[in-house]
Amino acid sequence: MDKDAMITYLIGELKKENLELHDLIVPEELEEKQKLLRALFNTRKPMAASTQFLTIQDLYLQVRKGERGIVQLNSLQSIPQDKRIYLWKGDITRLEIDAIVNAANKSLLGGGGVDGAIHRTAGRELLEECKTLHGCETGDAKITKGYNLPAKYVIHTVGPIYKGGNSNEDRLLYSCYERSLEVLIENNLRTIAFPAISTGIYGYPKEEATSIAYDAVIDMLEKNWDKIDQVCFVCFGDRDYEIYKRILKIKLNNIG
Ligand code: AR6
Repeated sequence: MDKDAMITYLIGELKKENLELHDLIVPEELEEKQKLLRALFNTRKPMAASTQFLTIQDLYLQVRKGERGIVQLNSLQSIPQDKRIYLWKGDITRLEIDAIVNAANKSLLGGGGVDGAIHRTAGRELLEECKTLHGCETGDAKITKGYNLPAKYVIHTVGPIYKGGNSNEDRLLYSCYERSLEVLIENNLRTIAFPAISTGIYGYPKEEATSIAYDAVIDMLEKNWDKIDQVCFVCFGDRDYEIYKRILKIKLNNIG
């Protein structure tokens, strides 16, 4: 089965399971079909899928993984001041590492932003495992396998929705990083990548959030120097990358 046939099959099945899509016209062109499939994956209902669907979905996602390119943590450079910390501008779903962190919501059943990207790349099996976790409190973290992602595991954490700063948002955001690292250690894993939790849809001011992320990671690295090998901060765009570079520099100068 070639990629075109896989996409056609998957779109057909997704149409069948959702009556609202009955009249949906499927474009002829491969690029357009692929875009449509991506949109359908994003808006899928959290219902079970057949074994055949999952098999073809996995084949398709493996092809996509090859096309998008896997990035190994060891091919990146750590920051000069600390060999355990990496700062990388890119898409967290391409990273080969023990665990990537998902900025999820309390349901753990998927959403937009990095959550949507992780579910789309991992495949439907991730949703099935997430359903067994029965949600997650803000500031806590839970682990699943990574399925079709290059990362072995996904640690799902729920960041605070920013409401002005007087609702314990700082403590809850710190807890997201701390709990994610605790879960990493509990599972005998040693390398982890974080997106900028809460700074997208949840509206946390980026500078403050970056400072909290750094403090939490440094505190945990100090306490668990023999248990955590590498921590990567992943920035999705130029703006986030510049903010991380600036805040990390200030923090490191203060120490030095
Ligand atoms: N790789 C790395 N970072 C990414 C990626 C990616 N592929 N995609 C987005 N980001 P957000 P939140 C960055 O909105 O604010 C979801 O609907 C993005 O640029 O994903 O914690 C959940 O289900 C931003 O810097 O998460 C929740 O309902 C950062 O990831 C809600 O959003 C976080 O942005 C959580 O909101």
